[in-house]
Amino acid sequence: MAIWTPSLTGRRGPKYRQILDALTEEIEAGTLVPGMRLPPHRDLAYALGVSANTTSRAYAEGVARALLRGEVGRGTYVRELPGPAPHEGPMDLCRPPAEGPIDLSRNLPAPGDGAMYLAQTLAELSRGADLRGLLDYQTEAGQPGQVVALVRWLEGLGVPSLRDEVVITIGAQHGILATLMAVTQPGDLLATEALTYAPLRAMARRLGLRTRAVAMDGKGLSPQALDALCREASVRALYLTPTFQTPTGVTLEADRRAELVAIARRHDLLVIEDDVFGSLAPVRPPALATLAPERTIYLTSLSKCLGPGLRVGMAKAPKALAECIRGSVTLSCWMPPPLMAEVAACWIREGSATRMAEARQVGTARRRTLAREVLGGLDAGVGDYAPHVWLVAPEGWTADSLRAEAARRGVWITEGAAFATDPATCPEAVRICLGHEADEGRLRRGLACLRDILSGPRGGSSLIL
Ligand SMILES: Cc1ncc(COP(=O)(O)O)c(C=O)c1O
Repeated sequence: MAIWTPSLTGRRGPKYRQILDALTEEIEAGTLVPGMRLPPHRDLAYALGVSANTTSRAYAEGVARALLRGEVGRGTYVRELPGPAPHEGPMDLCRPPAEGPIDLSRNLPAPGDGAMYLAQTLAELSRGADLRGLLDYQTEAGQPGQVVALVRWLEGLGVPSLRDEVVITIGAQHGILATLMAVTQPGDLLATEALTYAPLRAMARRLGLRTRAVAMDGKGLSPQALDALCREASVRALYLTPTFQTPTGVTLEADRRAELVAIARRHDLLVIEDDVFGSLAPVRPPALATLAPERTIYLTSLSKCLGPGLRVGMAKAPKALAECIRGSVTLSCWMPPPLMAEVAACWIREGSATRMAEARQVGTARRRTLAREVLGGLDAGVGDYAPHVWLVAPEGWTADSLRAEAARRGVWITEGAAFATDPATCPEAVRICLGHEADEGRLRRGLACLRDILSGPRGGSSLIL
C-alpha cells in the first residue's frame, strides 16, 4: 500500500520545515484526519529521499505544535481534538478543556450567549414554521427571505447590496474557495499579503494557482509593493483581509484603501476582500467593496460574531461574478444547509444578531484590555477590537524558539511562519488568539506565562533553536 508522502515541490526552506508545512496544510485541508497514523519516519525518509533525522525532526516539531501525537513504539498520529466531557454540549466540542495546555493558537471568537438564542429560535421554528422547505433541495441561491436577511446584514456592515449580488456560502472559508474556483484558472497569479490566512495557501495550491507575497509595513499591505508586482507580472486577483488582518490585526486606513483600489483599477485586478472580522469592528474605514464595487468580491461570515458552528457566510460581488460564485457553490455542495441559514436569518430579522455581535465586540475589547495589561511593555499590537494579537519576538528570540518555549510551559501560540506566503521572508513574530479559551482566568495565565518568558532571564542561547 502506498504510504502518505507529502509533495515538497515548490516548497522552500529546510526540508524538515517543508514536510511540516505540508503536514499542516493537509491537516487544515482535512486530507489528513485526526487519529490517522503517519508512516514510520524511516519509511517516509526513504520515500522522500531525505535522511531519517529530517523526518524525525519534522514529526517532533509536529508533536510540539500539537498537530501530531507520538507514542513510543506505536507510531505517530494526527492529533485528535480534546473530546468533550460528558456534561458538555456540542457547542463546546472545539473549546480546549478547562485543564491542560492553554490554547491561544486558534482564532475562535470569545464565547457568547448564542446557545440561549439558539434554543429559543429552534423552539420557535419548530412551533411556527413550515419545516418541509428546510429539508428539501433548494435553488443554490437559498430561500429569498434568507437572502433578504443577508442583504440587511451586509447593509449593517456598510456594504449595500442587491439581492442578486449576494451568494450564501458555508462560512467565509467556503466563500474563499468558491470565489477562487469561480474567478481563477490553474496557473493564474494570486497576490496576497506577505502574511495571510494560512488555509489560503493550501487552497491556492490545490487549484493550481501561483501565489506572490506583497510586502506589508506597519499600516498593512504596501501599495507600492502591489504596484511593482503588477508592473512585473500579470496578476489575476488580490486576496486580503483589510480589517483586523490575519495575523497582524492591522486595519487598513481609508487613504491606503483608496490607493489600493486605484492600483487595482490601473492594472485591472479583481479584489477578494475577506472581511470575516468586520462585524467585530464598531467602526472601520469603508469596505473596498464600496470603493470599487465593480471589481471587488466581498466575503464575510457570521462565524466571528454569532458562532462558527452556524457555518453561514456570504459573498457579495457584481451580478455576473456572483452568478459564477453561485455556480461554484452548487458544484462544491449544491447548497448551504437551509436550516442554518434560516436560524441566521431569524436572528438578523429580529435584531438578536446585532445584539450578539455587539456583545462579542465588548467581550473582545475586554480581552484586549487584559492583553494590554498583562503584556504591557512588550511589542504587541494590542489595538481595540481584533481578537488576535501579533507579538514581535524580542532580540535573542526567534518566533520558533518562543513558540517552542511557550509550548514547553503549556501555552500554545502560532509562529509567523504559519502565515507566510513566502516562508523565506517571514518576520520573527507570533500570533496570540484571545477568544479560544472560554475562561478568562486561563487566558490571563497564558498571557502572563508569555510575559514571564519574554521578560525573565533568557536562559541563554539554549532557548534559541
Ligand atoms: C481571515 C479569515 N478568513 C476566513 C476564515 C474562515 O471563517 P469561517 O469560519 O467563516 O469559514 C477565518 C477563520 O479564522 C479567518 O481568520
